[in-house]
Formats: sequence, C-alpha cells, structure tokens
Amino acid sequence: MKKLMILAAAALLCLTACAQNNKKMNENKTPIAWFSWSGNTEAVVNHIVEITGADTFRIEREKPYPVEYDPCTMDAKQEVDNNVFPAIKGLPENFDQYKTFIVAVPVWWYTAPMPVRTFLEKSGLNWKGKTVIPQIDAWLKKLNL
Ligand SMILES: Cc1cc2nc3c(=O)[nH]c(=O)nc-3n(C[C@H](O)[C@H](O)[C@H](O)COP(=O)(O)O)c2cc1C
Repeated sequence: MKKLMILAAAALLCLTACAQNNKKMNENKTPIAWFSWSGNTEAVVNHIVEITGADTFRIEREKPYPVEYDPCTMDAKQEVDNNVFPAIKGLPENFDQYKTFIVAVPVWWYTAPMPVRTFLEKSGLNWKGKTVIPQIDAWLKKLNL
C-alpha cells in the first residue's frame, strides 16, 4: 500500500512537471513561416508543430506553380534568373507580436524560392529588430526533427 502511494505521488509529480513544461513551450513558441511545393518542408513543419504547438504561416505564390515537376522548375528558374519577386497570398496575422521567426523552405535553384524572398524583402513587413532563423528541410531532416 505504501509503495502504491509513493508511485501515485511520483506519477502526479511527473504529470505536473510535464504540464508546466508544455505551458512554457507554448508561451515561448516561435512562429514558422514556410513554403513547400511537393510537401517535404510541410511535413517537417507539421512535425515541429506537433512538438511545440508553434503558429505557422504558409507562404504561397498568388499564381500557383505548375503541378508537374519540369514545368515548375522552368517557371522557378525564370524567376530566379530574372530576379522576379512574385506576388504572394496574404501576410501573417499578429506579425508584430513576434520577435523571432523561423522561415522554413526547400532549396530551389541553389537558393530560396522567390515567393520567400517576396515575403522577406518586398511584402512591406517591417523586419527591423526581429530575428529570422532560416531552416531548410534537408538540414532539419538530418537532425531527425
Ligand atoms: C523548382 C525546383 C528547384 C529545385 N532546385 C534544387 C536545387 O537547386 N538544389 C537541390 O538540392 N534541390 C533542388 N530541388 C529539390 C527540392 O529542394 C527538394 O525536392 C525539396 O525537398 C522540395 O521541398 P518541398 O517538398 O517542401 O517543396 C528543386 C526542386 C524544385 C521543384
């Protein structure tokens, strides 16, 4: 009986500690702005959200990229080659409340997809004083996140 009571007390302590830990994570959650065309980056982001409960914002080109791989690569290449900043759909709500952003992207033509550059450079958002943490899906996969 005594053993059972000790076990129950230990379980209660553990549950309280876990709850406090989750609360801390949610209070400190860093939002993730992400771009994904074929779903790899999206899968990584979803995994992080499961762990941290982070807020997310999907960066999307206003005019969707072709669904076929080759036409998509050609479309993206002409944007990179010609330094085209395509229009994107919407902007994150509550942007001002965050000091730090993770920006999760795939590599497209040795760089970030141009809609991501629109988001960071041409969307009118004021990044002054904010910290941007760049994450590429391959790097995250290496960390088994
Ligand atoms: C338009 C386009 C350009 C790409 N350019 C590169 C590249 O320069 N280097 C590379 O390693 N992979 C390149 N890839 C492969 C993607 O980085 C890789 O498939 C990534 O996981 C896709 O992420 P997503 O599923 O989130 O869109 C390219 C893919 C596409 C569609």
